[in-house]
Amino acid sequence: MTVLQVMSDTAAEQVVLRTTDPEVIGAELSRRGIAFDRWPLPADQRAATEDILAEYASRIADLNTEGRYQHIDVARIHPDDDDPQWPQTATAARGRFLAEHRHAEDEVRFFAAGRGCFYLHLDGEVVAVVCEAGDLVSVPAGTKHWFDMGVRPDFLAIRFFEEKDGWVGDFTGDRIGEGFPTLDELLAA
Ligand SMILES: [Fe+2]
Repeated sequence: MTVLQVMSDTAAEQVVLRTTDPEVIGAELSRRGIAFDRWPLPADQRAATEDILAEYASRIADLNTEGRYQHIDVARIHPDDDDPQWPQTATAARGRFLAEHRHAEDEVRFFAAGRGCFYLHLDGEVVAVVCEAGDLVSVPAGTKHWFDMGVRPDFLAIRFFEEKDGWVGDFTGDRIGEGFPTLDELLAA
């Protein structure tokens, strides 16, 4: 379930808004300059990367009419309890963008499966968006944010980059994220 939760950036317990209504979520994000869209789910979440990209080719082309995104790929992580390395893999993956950072370009993600939460640190507020399968979000370039994939990372996302290293984060050093509810806590609330 997609969730939007707006909190004070100085007091996480001050919840200004919490909603699961996709129309409200779209409107609230739009008025903050954040693009949000819903695309259909893939026929097969386990399909190979090239098949996922082929299935969404026309939507990707519509999004990229100006040819802005030169590098479009698929990032996926799924729990594998048969793999003794999985807990470490999960922890490392989760930790990668759990601290506040920003990027030189928009961070555009379409979640074809699974989920992840973006926390946007805006003027006086933190806007948490739990993205679920079917959600497309674009975090504007330069926006302070962090991303939580949860204790059991599980998602398949199409990523859109202008530059090959567009995913590289400029970390602010601010530990603000530690004081806000995690993805798992937001879903349990
Ligand atoms: Fe990021």
